Formats: sequence, structure tokens, C-alpha cells
Amino acid sequence: MSQPESAPTPRPLRGRRVTLGVSGSISAYKSVEAARRLEDAGAIVDVALTPSAARFIPPLTYRSLVQGEVAADLWDPSAPAEQHVAMGRRADAMLVAPASATTIAKLAQGIGDNPVTLTALATDAPLVVAPAMDSVMYGQPSVQANLELLKARGAFIAGPAVGRLASGGSGLGRLIEPIELAAAVRSAIGRTVGELRGRHIIVTAGGTREPIDPVRFVGNHSSGKMGIAVAEASRDQGAAVTLVTTQPPPQGLYGIVVRPVGTALEMQEAIRNAARGADALVMAAAVADYRPAEAAESKLKKQDAEAAGMTIELVENPDVIASIDAPHLLKVGFAAETDDLIANAQAKIEKKGLAFIVANDVSQSDAGFQVDTNRVVLLDESGEPERLPLLHKYDVGVAILERLKSHHGWPASSE
Ligand code: CTP
Repeated sequence: MSQPESAPTPRPLRGRRVTLGVSGSISAYKSVEAARRLEDAGAIVDVALTPSAARFIPPLTYRSLVQGEVAADLWDPSAPAEQHVAMGRRADAMLVAPASATTIAKLAQGIGDNPVTLTALATDAPLVVAPAMDSVMYGQPSVQANLELLKARGAFIAGPAVGRLASGGSGLGRLIEPIELAAAVRSAIGRTVGELRGRHIIVTAGGTREPIDPVRFVGNHSSGKMGIAVAEASRDQGAAVTLVTTQPPPQGLYGIVVRPVGTALEMQEAIRNAARGADALVMAAAVADYRPAEAAESKLKKQDAEAAGMTIELVENPDVIASIDAPHLLKVGFAAETDDLIANAQAKIEKKGLAFIVANDVSQSDAGFQVDTNRVVLLDESGEPERLPLLHKYDVGVAILERLKSHHGWPASSE
């Protein structure tokens, strides 16, 4: 039996070098997972530890895990000379996670007295600071002022989150999760050198839910994965991204503005609200063409259905993508088809006013709804199909963005 075709793992940080600076906090354990996630995304990670960080997690743990170097002691005779300078120079981003109140103060004041703070001084790369501390400490005017200072100088402050704290109880001060830390690095690199800096992209995801009554709806199998992948790829290239979605957002969407919606009409409204000044709308959502004419206010009972002759009356939803008319907005549609893929998709380009359409055959098991991969054809009005191989949805997103950037209607870079 032939092996099923597999798609390469996406590597949004391929070719990037990231320095992870760890300071003293019980949440340092999350930095281990963050290092792994960064390397899984294709980066090479160097690690710098403060002396207190090294008491929570020994340098050996990082040495066993990362491809880069680990700097834990400024006076270690076996370490390369000026290691902090080399680490700082080669970094595409520096992530300080967890960042304790003391480390934040040192970063704000330019004090370099340990491998983390010295490396931060030695780099021009974007700095992502992920605070972790007790909520009273976090609320101190001194800590807030230091964070403001860092932000004003261009640092990205990632978190903290509300949750369980080591000091007991729950509050604001918890380090954000490793998946969000890695996402914050991707976002910071995008905002600094990404090709979509200064652009705004609206992406829709998921199937709309058209209510029948408070507990039932007319819906479809869309998981939202394709739209979420396009949103992540856009974020990674530095665009401002508004994700209009019917699905609960997964973790890892750091830097993406999420607008939750339910119905087609709510989706239309959310897109209209975001459309002014936007450069592109990528409509990956599966919009229901019809909705129940009336949504019952209370749960329908069996007798009600029988009394209504077991019939739900439907009315047509607007064609959302066709209805959005904003200056300079390039619209990208999707066509999920089971028959006559190319002809059906081609017809939708003109009908809906699209720059191009992403067509996929949803009758295949490794493409389309629910799965992480997709096999699509990109089509514009020229009629020349660009057939892409089986790809992870993230990489389909990258291909869609490439096509957008080369479209004649795409604004020229202001640089
Ligand atoms: N779409 C939309 N509003 C609708 C229906 C579809 O904005 N009411 C968008 C989808 O998000 C997608 C594109 O239009 O980007 C094509 O969707 P599809 O369901 O394939 O097209 P339909 O126009 O509904 O045509 P049909 O169902 O007859 O194939």
C-alpha cells in the first residue's frame, strides 16, 4: 500500500536566531518549553541565565535542549570570550521570560551585571519582555514605570496573564504560556523586519452558526483552522491582523486582534468595522448561505416542531465578501467544492469581485475541513491555475500572502 502523502512541518522561524534570557522566578520552568517551541518553529536558540534563574533551572537543562549556546556565568573560563556580545549581535530577537521585577528594572536602567542584562545591552534586536511576579509587585508604580519606559523604547511587553501565582491565590502577574511566548517572538520579528509591516489584513475563520433557537443552530463542519493559519502567517510577517472567527481562538494568537462572532450578519458587521484602512480581506470562513427566518427566543419543544409541520423556514444571508466595499481592499475568497473545482471557483472570482480565489476539493480526506493540511489551487481572472502540493495550512497561508504581495492592486512598500 502506498504511504499517504505528508506535508512538511511549517518553520515560521527558519533561519532566525533567538536569545532567551531567563531570570529568577519559579515560572522559569516555562522557559524550557518556550525554548523548545522556538526551536520547533525553526529558530536556533541561545540561552542566557541570571544567577537566580540558574538556581531554579540548571544550565544543563537548556544545554541538553537547545542548538545554541548557554551563558550562565560571566566568569566561566571555559565560555567563549565576550559571549554576551556575540549572542546579542547574532540575535534576531531577544525574549526575556520570565522577566522578574529586578531584571525589568535593570533592563530599563541599562544595568548589565549578569548574562541576561549584558546580552540585552549588546543587542539591537527587538526585545520581548514577559513579566512574571506576584500581583502586588507587578502593580508597584516602580515596576509599571520601568515597563512603560521599555515600551516607549520599542520593547514588546508580553503579558502577564491573570492566574494562579506562586505566592498563593490568583491575580495578575502570571507568566504567559510557552506557546504565547513563542508567538510573541514571531510577532516581534514580523513587526521589525516582516514584509507586511504597516499592512492590515482581515481574516475570517470558522463556520457561521445561524440560530434556530437558544440551543440549536444551522452550521457546518468548518474548524476555522485555515483562517487561523492565514492570520498567524500574516502576523508573522508583521501585518496588523484582525481575525473574525466563529471558533473559540486557540492559544498562540499573540499579536492578533480576535473578534468573536456567531452568524453571517455578525461577521459582516465585524468586517465592516475593521475594513477602513485595511489592505486585504481573506475570507476563509464557511458562511451559511441561508439562516432560519426567525430564531425562537426559547427552546423549541417537540410539539412546536410538529405544529410547524417539521419545517424550518430559511431566508438568504447576504454574500458577505461580495458586500464589503472598501477602497484599496483586495479580497481573497475560498471555494470549497466537491465537483468541477476549477470551473465553479473561477465563476466566483468575478461574481464576488475577488483578487483571486483559493479552491480546494473538500472530498479528499487530507485536505479541507478539520485537518491541518490542505491541497489548494490558486486562481485569478487570468484562468491560469497555480496548483500547490499538499501543505500544512500555515504554508498555504504563506502562499496566499505571496500571491497577495505580487498582485497589481497591492500597495507598493512605503520604504
Ligand atoms: N461567502 C460569503 N458569504 C456567503 C457565502 C460565501 O462571503 N453568504 C464567501 C466564502 O467565505 C468564500 C466564498 O464566498 O470565501 C465562496 O464561498 P462558497 O460557499 O464556495 O460560495 P457560494 O457563493 O456560497 O456558492 P455555492 O455555495 O453555490 O458553491
